[in-house]
Amino acid sequence: MSKGKVLLVLFKGGQHAIEQKKLLGCAENELGIRKFVEENGYELVTTTDKDGPDSLVEKEIEEAEIVITTPFFPAYITRERIEKAKNLKLCITAGVGSDHIDLNAANEKKLTVAEVTGSNVVSVAEHALMTILNLVRNYPSAHEIALKGEWDIAAAARDEYDIEGKVVGTVGAGRIGYRILERLVAFNPKKLYYFDYQELPQSAVDKINQASKLFNGVDNLLERVESLEDMVSKCDVVTINCPLHEKTKGLFDKKLISHMKDGAWLVNTARGAICNAEDVNEAVKSGKLLGYGGDVWYPQPPGPNHPWLDLTRPNGFSGNAMTQHISGCSLDSELRYSLGTKSILESYFTKKFDYRPQDLIVIDGDYATKAYGERNKK
Ligand code: NAI
Repeated sequence: MSKGKVLLVLFKGGQHAIEQKKLLGCAENELGIRKFVEENGYELVTTTDKDGPDSLVEKEIEEAEIVITTPFFPAYITRERIEKAKNLKLCITAGVGSDHIDLNAANEKKLTVAEVTGSNVVSVAEHALMTILNLVRNYPSAHEIALKGEWDIAAAARDEYDIEGKVVGTVGAGRIGYRILERLVAFNPKKLYYFDYQELPQSAVDKINQASKLFNGVDNLLERVESLEDMVSKCDVVTINCPLHEKTKGLFDKKLISHMKDGAWLVNTARGAICNAEDVNEAVKSGKLLGYGGDVWYPQPPGPNHPWLDLTRPNGFSGNAMTQHISGCSLDSELRYSLGTKSILESYFTKKFDYRPQDLIVIDGDYATKAYGERNKK
């Protein structure tokens, strides 16, 4: 008889799982943890069937002691599911961002929620930078035109710019936001801003400003801004890098977008629900925003009628730089978050509970991180 049940919810790999063994994040390859879980006396149930009342997750969660899921193909661990999960003790996010779990309900039930902090932050920073470049260089339209075999330079060039000389701001300057700022220095922007209730250490600001001085001869490149409206009104590009919680849900709505510069670009690799999907769609379609991009949607998968499937500008060209939720899912990341998941399980199985402090989101009925903890400040 097993000591307990571990429920693992991952995306389907299919043929790709056979051809690419490094694809650890899919259901077929099970993060490479089956042997380890079974050697520790636990039963592992792996599924892709996550949504709806007849899903396997709905059934198996009643018995599960540990649930592991990813932000890429999230099993939404709702209050209702938590209430019926009579054995549940630990929820692990294989990746970063645990908003698919009702954290208040997890706190009330004194569950531990842990994620593999840092595991994919470089990958997301690279993807965000790629998306900024994509939009500013007008790649979506230019690619569309090229694939049609056309040679209409004007159609692509009319909305194509350089990052050099532009103003870029990040909402959230944690692990990902800061890495984006670091990488942007190489493009010689005019100014970098950040909005975050946690101030960056002076050494982190100095590092960016010294690099900017050295490479571009620009002083005081990076500055903190106290008001979000103020920051977005100064920026050509805004990149969103804060967690999804009560105070960031729907944050980028019509009202906040109205404070952005006309023709600005908005990039969101944090969480889809931080933006109001209809308002973003309207902003691109009306020409208020020149483009929107990122990899995160709500819900995931988004279904056939999601407003971000069509982000066409008034001139008929695409202002859409969306991908599926893949930024934190590079093969390098998958290895890191698989190993990190195993390490969290080891702390639990051995009953040492010696988790890395930075991995803990909620424990013993309270938030363990300031990223979600100061939820009431905008
Ligand atoms: P982090 O915890 O290092 O940084 C988050 C920062 O956001 C913190 O400095 C926090 O103070 C700030 N913040 C929180 N609420 C805010 C608010 N209302 N306004 C301004 N700043 C606020 O987290 P990290 O690793 O940088 O990740 C950030 C988010 O990115 C995650 O929570 C997750 O949602 C998303 N993410 C997306 C991935 C993807 O594959 N697309 C992968 C990894 C993370």
